Amino acid sequence: MKRVITLMILTIQAMTTTAQTPEKNSFFLQHPFLWGAASASYQVEGFHKADGKGRSIWDVWMNDKQIGGKGVNGNEAIHFYDRTQYLKDIRLLKQLGLNSYRFSISWPRILPDGTGAINRQAIDHYRLFIKDLRAAGIEPVMTLYHWDMPYNLYQKGGWDSRESIQWFTEYAKVVFEHFNDLVKIYVLSNEMLVETDISLMAEELAAGRKSTLQILPQPENLERVLNQFNHKLLAAAAAAEIFHTYHIPQGEVGMAFPLFPTIAVNTASSAAAAFVDGILNRWFLDPIYKGTYPVDILDYARQHHLNINIQPGDAQRIKQAGFTYLGINYYAPIPVQQEDTSSSYQLIIPQLHNTDYAYNGANRPDQLERLLLRIKDEYGNPPVVITENGAGFPEEDQLLNGKVSDKRRTAYILNHINAMQSAISKGAHVYGYHVWSSHDNLEWSFGYDRRFGMIYVDFATQQRTLKESAIEYGNYIKKENSQKVRE
Ligand code: FCB
Repeated sequence: MKRVITLMILTIQAMTTTAQTPEKNSFFLQHPFLWGAASASYQVEGFHKADGKGRSIWDVWMNDKQIGGKGVNGNEAIHFYDRTQYLKDIRLLKQLGLNSYRFSISWPRILPDGTGAINRQAIDHYRLFIKDLRAAGIEPVMTLYHWDMPYNLYQKGGWDSRESIQWFTEYAKVVFEHFNDLVKIYVLSNEMLVETDISLMAEELAAGRKSTLQILPQPENLERVLNQFNHKLLAAAAAAEIFHTYHIPQGEVGMAFPLFPTIAVNTASSAAAAFVDGILNRWFLDPIYKGTYPVDILDYARQHHLNINIQPGDAQRIKQAGFTYLGINYYAPIPVQQEDTSSSYQLIIPQLHNTDYAYNGANRPDQLERLLLRIKDEYGNPPVVITENGAGFPEEDQLLNGKVSDKRRTAYILNHINAMQSAISKGAHVYGYHVWSSHDNLEWSFGYDRRFGMIYVDFATQQRTLKESAIEYGNYIKKENSQKVRE
C-alpha cells in the first residue's frame, strides 16, 4: 500500500490542470443560479409498456426476477409519464419557486432495441414535457442515461463490451438531433460508479444469490468494474464530441458523478483512504481534467494481474472531449479503515461515532464544502452543478392531518445549501443545486419504502402532499431571489 501511495503523490505533483473559467457566453454566467430538484425515468415514470417502449434491464430485473420483492417494480411508479399527472407536479414545482428540473429520458423508450429504429412517440412525449416545463419557467436539465439500459444491449454485453461506446454514441446523436432546439443542459450519464455497483448487485439477486450494495468495489470485481468505468467514460466522451458539432448556443454538456470525500478514521488508515479516493473519485476526475488515469490504481491493477482494457489515448480522449461542467451528486463521505492484518485492499467502511446517519450515509455537510474546495483547488475550478443532494431517514415521512413534518430532511437540505454557499464564497464555481428528489419514488431494489422526496406521494392513490422540506426549500429560494434583486 505504501508504495502505491508514493506513486500517487508523484503523479499529482507532475500533473497540471488548467484553471477553467467558464466561457463568457456559457449558460451558467448568463442565467440566475439554478435551484432545482431531480428525478429519474425508471423511478418515476411508470407506464412501462406505453407508446412502444422497449424493456430495460430494470424492467426485467424487477418483473421477471423480482429482485425488490414480489410486486415491487417501476410499472406504475408515480405516473410521471402521464401528462395529466405531471402537469400537476410541474405546478407544484413552480409554486415552490424552482427554476430548474433535472429529469432523465429513457433510452429504451427512444430506441426500443437500444440502437436502430427511433420511437417517435417517445420523442414527442419528452418534447411536450420539456415545453411544459419551459412554459412554467423551469429550465430542463436532461439526463440521457440514469441506469435504464435497453435489455437488448445488456444481452449483448452491456457496459462490459467496448461496443457500448458505439451504442451510446448512436443514442446520444438521436437525442441531440431531436432536442437541440429545446434543451441547453445535458447530463450524459448518472453515477457511473454506483450504477456499476448496483447492477452487479442486481445481477446477483437476479441469479438468486444474496447480495448487498457495496459502494466500494471488491478486489474480485475490480477488473470488471474498472473496464466498465473506462467504457462509460469513453461513451460519454464520444457523445460530448457529437454534442459540440451541434453548436447549441449556451449549450452545456457534462455528467453527474457520485463523489465521496474519504475520511481516514485513524492515522494508520490514511494510505487506505487515499487509495479508496483513487477508485471512487480520482478514477473519474483525473481523466476528465488531467487526461490520465490515476497511476496508483493502475499500478495496483498491474500488481494484481487485472486485465484492464485501457488503450493508449483513452484518457486523453476523455479530457479532450470538452465537458463544460462537472455534475456532482453528493450524499455522504466514506470513512475508511485499514485492517491491521491485511496487505493492501482489505478495507472496511466503519460507522462514524456521534454522527447522524441517513439511508445514503453520514449526514456531513462539512464534507460537501471540503469536496467543492478540493475540486476548485486540484481540478482547476471547473463550473460545477450539484445534480443531486438529499436524504431519507427511517420513520421520517408520516402523513398526519395532511402534513408531513420531515424535520431531519429539511435540516439536511438547508445545512448542505449553507455548506455550498460557504464554498462559493471561497471561490468555488457552483451554478446550480438540485435536491434528490422532487418526489418520493422507487428507490431501485429497495422499493418504495425508502422515501427521499420533498413531495410526499401516496403510492396507492397518486395523491401528492408538500412536505415541510419542500415548503422550507421554497422559502429559502424565495428569500435568496429577493436578496439578489435588492443587491
Ligand atoms: C443516487 C441515485 C438516485 C437515487 C438516490 C437516492 O445514488 O442517483 O437515483 O437512488 O441515490
